[in-house]
Amino acid sequence: MKPIPFMAPSLTDNEKSNLLDSIESTWIGGVGPYISRVEQGWAEICGAKECVTASNGTVALHLGLLALGVGPGDEVIVPALTYVATANAVRYTGAEPVFVDVDKKTWCMDPSKIEAAITRRTKGILPVHLLGHPADMDAINKIATLYNIWVLCDAAQAHMATYKQRTVGSLADIEVFSFHVGKVFTCGEGGAIVLNDSKLANWLRMVRGHGMDPERRFFHPMTAYNYRLTNMQASVLCAQLDRRSEIMQRRRVFFERYKEGLTGIPGIGFQPIASWANPCPWVFAITIDEDKFGISRNSIIQEFADQNVETRPFTYPLNSLPPFRELSDSRGVTFPITEHLSKTGIYLPSSTDITEHEVDFICGIIKDLAKKGNSG
Ligand SMILES: Cc1ncc(COP(=O)(O)O)c(C=O)c1O
Repeated sequence: MKPIPFMAPSLTDNEKSNLLDSIESTWIGGVGPYISRVEQGWAEICGAKECVTASNGTVALHLGLLALGVGPGDEVIVPALTYVATANAVRYTGAEPVFVDVDKKTWCMDPSKIEAAITRRTKGILPVHLLGHPADMDAINKIATLYNIWVLCDAAQAHMATYKQRTVGSLADIEVFSFHVGKVFTCGEGGAIVLNDSKLANWLRMVRGHGMDPERRFFHPMTAYNYRLTNMQASVLCAQLDRRSEIMQRRRVFFERYKEGLTGIPGIGFQPIASWANPCPWVFAITIDEDKFGISRNSIIQEFADQNVETRPFTYPLNSLPPFRELSDSRGVTFPITEHLSKTGIYLPSSTDITEHEVDFICGIIKDLAKKGNSG
């Protein structure tokens, strides 16, 4: 069996021909027709008015937070279980992330933990649609309305997921996406901010482009950033979005195959799916209950590595990482669900082009280990 990567992009002649077209047009920088096409297309797919592209998801989060007026001294509520970029982007503004635990029913921010984290400094809530599963947005938006604060979603991992029939991207004041090489739709590196406020969208286009006044060349009324996506990247992303049905369909098929292959093995758990959610099939994740499975999570990861299968452990709880630990500890809040998931979770290979044979091989490794674990 050849090595099975954790994530590899699905690239076809469509991506190649768009890329060649952008090169032949000479429009390879941060302006060009493919950028407008992505912005119009992604806004439409999300059911929102505006999409502003950016160089990656992290800076898109930074821009989104700036658009909402976040700055030094402010606090933003963030789930403890997410990729570090969510909290880093809050820090870029000078504000502080305040962590809350996730809900064991979704693995996303637990709405029942939010109110206890709100202080006079709280400016907003930043839920993450973790591993493609939407956060419980009605509950979160209700709290935000009650306290007169905004909601910005980190939708990096949740392309085209739906919450109560509504598409992710249209569930909060602002939602932010990543098109990193490991995401469902990708252009290597890329990001987007999705919103309904056209005035704010134009402000964001200005801030991502050095803050230049669109009516006065080289007049910069603010200190801003170069956070632009290139037309070359956008050309690849256009092809990916044109192929969105095919990509999603392939991913749903291998998710189903994993689920069928692994259901019923003692000690293997899956991310629960809420009745109101239709998640994006981003990464197929499992948890290991070592007592029931008989072998530790880390030994399973090692066995996969020995068999040339690339997996990943879940991320560390953000509250435990050096840049955040001290301040988080000082609040005296605990994160039992995050800590449990972080210690027990494994991300399995989840490339769009993974074959049935490869999924069966991976499930076979787990089944063999389960037999060994139970006989040991
Ligand atoms: C939840 C989450 N937020 C933010 C990011 C950052 O996106 P990017 O890598 O495009 O900067 C990622 C992915 O990398 C992510 O998974």
